[in-house]
Amino acid sequence: MVKSLETPEPGLLKPGVKAPVQETLLTPRFYTTDFEAAAQLDISPQEEELQAIVEELRADYNRHHFVRDEEFKQCWDHIDGETRLAFIDFLERSCTSEFSGFLLFKELSRRLKNRNPILAEAFNFMARDEARHAGFLNKSMTDFNLSLDLSYLTKNRTYTFFPPEWIIYAVYLSEKIGYWRYILVYRHLQKHPEHQIYPLFRKFESWCQDENRHGDFFKALLRSQPQLWNNWKARLWVRFFLLSVFATHTLTVFERAKFYQSIGIDPREYNTRVIQETNNTAARAFPLTLNTNHPDFFRRLEQCSDLNLKLAEINNSNRPKIVKFCQKLPLIASIVGHLLQIYLIKAVDAESLRGTVH
Ligand SMILES: [Fe+2]
Ligand SMILES: [Fe+2]
Repeated sequence: MVKSLETPEPGLLKPGVKAPVQETLLTPRFYTTDFEAAAQLDISPQEEELQAIVEELRADYNRHHFVRDEEFKQCWDHIDGETRLAFIDFLERSCTSEFSGFLLFKELSRRLKNRNPILAEAFNFMARDEARHAGFLNKSMTDFNLSLDLSYLTKNRTYTFFPPEWIIYAVYLSEKIGYWRYILVYRHLQKHPEHQIYPLFRKFESWCQDENRHGDFFKALLRSQPQLWNNWKARLWVRFFLLSVFATHTLTVFERAKFYQSIGIDPREYNTRVIQETNNTAARAFPLTLNTNHPDFFRRLEQCSDLNLKLAEINNSNRPKIVKFCQKLPLIASIVGHLLQIYLIKAVDAESLRGTVH
């Protein structure tokens, strides 16, 4: 939930608190899982690798990184109009998503303590990182006279249940796509300092290394569970998670096109690059990746985004509910149709490439 530091808002909410961004399929989710099943995961096939990552996490390379230095100490009112709104939306969604990671990791660490010490320790360190990330983003929001009420979010958001296997697929992908999202913005702004509108982006280089380490941890965890990659069912699930994450990314990037344009990034190029890089990275963990070079792949994803923008337009209109429903139905059917067609594109085998992928 967003707290306005300046303008109290009337209604059911406490004074000084304004309504949070409405929960939709695209807003970051909060997750819960079967903690008993997670405690029983046998990680012995990858124990050495997992222990090595725990040691890296313990080293805490970014301990002194998240500091609001001199550059932050100025007035940000010159970021105004649509750019300001788009930027605040970016900060809010990013903070929510980092915070969602913190809650899940913290709870896993708490429940697995004494049951599965390596996992419990890793989740504890990762929760530490995500709390820092969320805190830093929340501090940035105060520069725009807003803040997120994280304890309200903890109590009032809907928690989605995922079994541990789905958590492993989904969090692995979200860490790796998070890495590529941050590093590509960072590299772009290094090349084009004229678009560096706010110092947060300068922090992204070391920040994304945290996400990369988290992703590597989930990769080792995934590889320790052969049933997650060595059979036809796992292959179907992997395709499903890759497609879901890439489709969500596409829809979000195009919804937030103004934000990316405000820092000189072409949303279309950015989306394509993030997905291709994440897909290539995923070959190290998954038995297959998606064929992003197929002519239908991005064409259909972008059509889903166009349809999604039309859906948003209908949602925001004042038409009666039943009219909205009838107008939305064919658009939703069309999105499902496109996603199904992408799902059916022949995947790229990654197991046979494993020796050659670096
Ligand atoms: Fe993070
Ligand atoms: Fe992370």
